Amino acid sequence: MTIPAEMMALLLKGDGYATVPSGSVLEAMDPYVEFGRIGVPQPDEGQVLIKVSLASINPSDVMFIKGLYGQPRAKGRPAGFEGVGVVAAGNGPLAASLIGRRVAFATGTSNWGAWAEYAVADARGVIPLIDGVSDIDGAAMIVNPLTALAMFDIVREAGEKAFVLTAGASQLCKLMMGVAREEGFRPIAIVRRDDQESLLVESGAAHVLNASAADFKSRLKAVFGAEKPRIFLDAVTGPLASTVFHTMGKGARWIIYGRLDPADTVIREPGQFIFQDKKIEGFWLTQWMRSADPASRAARVLEAQQRFADGRWKTDVTATVPLDAAVSRVADELAKPNGKVFITPG
Ligand SMILES: NC(=O)c1ccc[n+]([C@@H]2O[C@H](COP(=O)([O-])OP(=O)(O)OC[C@H]3O[C@@H](n4cnc5c(N)ncnc54)[C@H](OP(=O)(O)O)[C@@H]3O)[C@@H](O)[C@H]2O)c1
Repeated sequence: MTIPAEMMALLLKGDGYATVPSGSVLEAMDPYVEFGRIGVPQPDEGQVLIKVSLASINPSDVMFIKGLYGQPRAKGRPAGFEGVGVVAAGNGPLAASLIGRRVAFATGTSNWGAWAEYAVADARGVIPLIDGVSDIDGAAMIVNPLTALAMFDIVREAGEKAFVLTAGASQLCKLMMGVAREEGFRPIAIVRRDDQESLLVESGAAHVLNASAADFKSRLKAVFGAEKPRIFLDAVTGPLASTVFHTMGKGARWIIYGRLDPADTVIREPGQFIFQDKKIEGFWLTQWMRSADPASRAARVLEAQQRFADGRWKTDVTATVPLDAAVSRVADELAKPNGKVFITPG
């Protein structure tokens, strides 16, 4: 494969972290990235250079380009945490052995992101794809699928069949509910639109509650009274999560893995920590990747691929946007519910 000297990419305008807080909604791309030309990077020891076929846009990318993610921005470098492509070059024995392979990749802290013609990733973290996994599924193979499987392990280990999910119509929750249904678990999905109810029942939800409905609090109480969930997997936070956690019974564990509502998150009754053995925790895939034992991590990676290849999982797509149209189009596409937005370089 001939590698050019330069490439086109969506380059970060900001550096480090934001000094002014803003929400998780992407109002426009223009304040945060620009379409521009940059030299194709050389991979460092242990890294691969990937010719990108397709890159995904996750809520973590939005938080990152705005300077609100748990990792600083490098001004002038390409953004984008996840994608699929073909390994074009590798530095070191493992990396070199991957040349020519189609892989799912996460760019991690390489500072050479996936919203570009070429990206750089750690060779140990890329996933050579099995036949039957499409590029769309490959481009969304790591961040959500591995988080879904890792967090469902927490639910399984906790033992209760019922568990609670906010942002219930997210791609991640739909993946997790598919696994839950196969194993007889009973997800209680909380959303903010009535029209998502049938979609989520189809995805495996036992109950779907609309947080913006007038009777939300009474339905929440009734469903929790009947199902007695202990695990609360929360991507929203803010007043909604406060209400949900407050309503849960003894021994409830609130596991925060997203921050979609920037509003303050109030603990209504701290006494519940004393007398009801309630707990608050966090989950971050990056930390799980570092700490999970290699055998169970490898098993989860294979399981994710098999689920996409045999059709048990699918990626819902809102739009695939060319790299050179991303600055003008992405914000409008992201505002549409029920699917993911992808960027294609060619
Ligand atoms: N901690 C980790 O390691 C980790 C890993 C992967 C993902 N995540 C998090 O998981 C979450 C889901 O990711 P995804 O890619 O699956 O998302 P997605 O498919 O883009 O869907 C986002 C969902 O969030 C809902 N939402 C957005 N803002 C909201 C708000 N203010 N209040 C209530 N609901 C809101 C949307 O509701 P509508 O349908 O009504 O628009 C949509 O259903 C994100 O927060 C992401 O950061 C965390």
